[in-house]
Amino acid sequence: MNELLRVVVCGSVDDGKSSLIGRLLLDTGNVPTDTLASLARDSAKFGTRGAALDPALLTDGLAAEREQGITIDVAWRAITVGGVRLLLADTPGHAQYTGNMATGASTADIAVLLVDATKGLQEQTHRHLLITALMGVRQVVLAVNKMDLVDHVEAAFTPMAQEFAALATRHRFARAACIPVSAITGGNIAHAGLEMGWYQGPCLLDWLLACTKAPVPSSFRLPVQNVLRSDTKRYYTGTVAGGRIGVGEMIMVGDETAEVAEILLGDRALHAAEAGQSVALALDRPLDITRGAVLAEMAQPPALADQFAAHIVWLDPEPLLPGRRYGIQLGHHVYAGQISELRHRIDNATGAQQPARVLARHEIGFGNISLSGRAAFDPYRENRHTGAFLVIDRLTGATAGCGMIDYPLRRAANLTWQATTVDQPARAALKGQKPAILWFTGLSGAGKSAIANAVEQMLLTEGRHTILLDGDNIRHGLNRDLGFRDADRVENIRRVAEVAKLMVEAGLIVLVAFISPFAAERALARGLVRPDEFLEIHVATPLAVCEARDPKGLYRKARSGELKNFTGIDSAYEPPLAPELRIGAEGESIEQQAQDVVTLLRTRQIAPR
Ligand code: ADX
Repeated sequence: MNELLRVVVCGSVDDGKSSLIGRLLLDTGNVPTDTLASLARDSAKFGTRGAALDPALLTDGLAAEREQGITIDVAWRAITVGGVRLLLADTPGHAQYTGNMATGASTADIAVLLVDATKGLQEQTHRHLLITALMGVRQVVLAVNKMDLVDHVEAAFTPMAQEFAALATRHRFARAACIPVSAITGGNIAHAGLEMGWYQGPCLLDWLLACTKAPVPSSFRLPVQNVLRSDTKRYYTGTVAGGRIGVGEMIMVGDETAEVAEILLGDRALHAAEAGQSVALALDRPLDITRGAVLAEMAQPPALADQFAAHIVWLDPEPLLPGRRYGIQLGHHVYAGQISELRHRIDNATGAQQPARVLARHEIGFGNISLSGRAAFDPYRENRHTGAFLVIDRLTGATAGCGMIDYPLRRAANLTWQATTVDQPARAALKGQKPAILWFTGLSGAGKSAIANAVEQMLLTEGRHTILLDGDNIRHGLNRDLGFRDADRVENIRRVAEVAKLMVEAGLIVLVAFISPFAAERALARGLVRPDEFLEIHVATPLAVCEARDPKGLYRKARSGELKNFTGIDSAYEPPLAPELRIGAEGESIEQQAQDVVTLLRTRQIAPR
């Protein structure tokens, strides 16, 4: 069987990446057939025909990509030379394709980075190097392409080789080289470039062929993808992500243990399963195992925690906001979670750690992530499968980032939830009411505070117990350390939502009047209490009306540029799509609008007659 080496190729179209890959295919007799449309272009470009691509390998590559969960466009091309198969992940080079690059790198043994000899190392080269290092690729080559355009002279190459050598040392790659090449002439790609006699090293192909496979993790791990039930047995299916396990050996899942009773590969029974095999495994006793669990060997258990520290590569156009709820996909399970603390951002070029409150698209940072429940995982450096995760935007379902776990955090393990004797129903019963949160959202000047105030007055006259949490007021005390940048607003809402939840626990009717511009944080607030305890009230007064009122003169300041990040002007407001009530039509008085709210409370039995 041929040895298979996975290679991620990064660089932009302008660097001649497709020419370089085409040249590698051509000069090794691996030119693709016309049937593969994406590759036909290259055939046309080079006007040649040759050996066909191995379709099995292509499928293999795509499966790997799909498994990783990032559905982006990574083209895989295979080259067979002697006993070695190189599977190239051709990742588009533009900055917006960082996700593809990371996808390719996450399974790669080797990275080829391309630069243009006339341009040298770019910002993107630095970012790709950093991602390559974080993704655990230990063998890296910098191909300085278009040497023909600089007359093949050594003086053009040397500074780039020196710069790269310093970076390779800093990233502690196990094997690194810088090779001057020309995809057009073929110089130093699959054979020595005669025009560059001054270069003594191997050509790109020889360098690649001398690489080794990334080591397979030695501890047994089986992330459970599915649970199949027959009348008598349950089978846990998945791809072994490390080590091996034999029939009769003990495994653990969470805190429980069991013995492996049977291993199937397709319909063939095996004595043992090894890394890379997709198997079905049965145990000697029934355990409560669901998709997302990790079967592991007992001698080397994975971490079991609800917090960890990790590196994050941010991909979403919207910045990462600490405190915001995201989906965190670990293996086959998506947890609710958040980046609870962003510790720093990493400068691509220097590796320096910079303080950061948010991560913008394509930035790389380090922080603490907390999950809604305990998960089994490993440090990424020990296992690239069980140590990797995706950050998912909960509203769009899109992949917003990817991460590599550094170490588990055990802090939360020492905190328990105290069960109290007096509970919410008892507190509510004493007040004779049904507690709830009335969440008023809308632009500054929309009338939130005034309406909430009027509603509270009406409730008071009916003898109900209430509290009004108003943005301006809370920002004088609890939230006085927060400003108006996106990250501040997220934290502002997170805190007031937690306070509102406590007050609902106390049995109160809680009126919250905050702009609360982001749908994600309003969803977070809603999720903290029971579904019937949260009423979102959109005070939908149009921007023009709010601006004309301008009760605090803030719109004028915002328009003149004196006040930055003002909601509706240069900071976003995401209107609720399905609020329980929408008010704020032109011509309606505060009293009318407050009455509409009270009517809603009557129908929801919060303020029955
Ligand atoms: S939120 O966006 O974080 O929910 P919050 O309701 O707490 O905002 O505070 C909004 C109030 O702060 C506004 O009514 C206004 O008086 C004041 N304010 C000061 N600067 C800004 C700003 N840049 N954007 C919005 N409101 C601001």
